[in-house]
Order: sequence, then structure tokens, then C-alpha cells
Amino acid sequence: ALERTLSIVKPDGVQKNLIGEVYRRFEQAGLKIVAARMMHLSLAQAEGFYAVHRERPFFKDLTKYMSSGPVIVQVLEGENAVAKNRELMGATDPKKADKGTIRGDLAASIEENVAHGSDSAENAKIEIAYFFAAADICPRTR
Ligand code: CMP
Repeated sequence: ALERTLSIVKPDGVQKNLIGEVYRRFEQAGLKIVAARMMHLSLAQAEGFYAVHRERPFFKDLTKYMSSGPVIVQVLEGENAVAKNRELMGATDPKKADKGTIRGDLAASIEENVAHGSDSAENAKIEIAYFFAAADICPRTR
């Protein structure tokens, strides 16, 4: 099905000048960027975004890191966009991610892992709405 998913190039990806490299992979896989925004998240914004992880031991470090520098947030649109983006990213832990994936090729650690992607179509809706209004999204399909 035609889906949308929320993607973030995390602070380490922006810092290492990997925005274009990550976008190239999305575009070559047929995913279309239909909204994009650069922002430096506040700690409160990072905590809100990762609220589902609030009880996890890594929550404090994760939110501190995600608010440590600018990120670029985008909505990807395409057939099976949620799963396709997760395939492109590879496993959360770069040590477990396949070669040829964003994290396998580019990430330094499980925390500094270059990219975030929604894990389900349901969460994608919530995550997209966290950053974008309906009018911010520019579908190529109309
Ligand atoms: P992300 O897809 O953005 O979702 C939650 C993030 O928490 C994850 O990527 C990792 O960067 C980060 N994280 C840090 N430690 C862990 C861990 N032990 N397990 C899962 N995610 C972790």
C-alpha cells in the first residue's frame, strides 16, 4: 500500500555531513521526500517524541543526544514506505546492521545511529503529526 513514514537524520548524521548520502539512499529506493524540516530539538521536544521509551534505561541519554544538535526531519512516501525505510536503515545497533544499510555503513553506535524511522504505519501517523501539519506535506501523487 502507499504509505508515509517519519524519518529523522539524527545529530550525528547532520554533524558528519551525511544528509545527502541518506537522502540519496531514500531516492534511489524510490521513496519520495514529501516534507522536510531542519530543527534543533529542545530537550522537551525530544522527550515528547520518544515518550514511548520514557521508562527505558537509555531514555535520558537518548533525549540529551537528540537535542544536542540540529536534525533534519522528513516524511517519506512510497509503496510500503515504513518497511522499506527500515530495510534501508538496517538494525538499530550498527554492529548488527547489514553492510549496504545506512546504519551498517555509516553509524558509530546504537545511540549515534544516523537515522530514525517509524516502526509501524500507526506510529508513523503519530510521529508525522508531531512535526508536520497536514498543509506542510506535499504529495507527488496528486
Ligand atoms: P530509534 O529508531 O531512534 O528509536 C529509539 C532510539 O534509542 C534508537 O533508535 C537508538 O538510537 C536509541 N537507543 C539507545 N540505546 C538503545 C538500546 N539499548 N536499545 C534500543 N535503542 C537504543
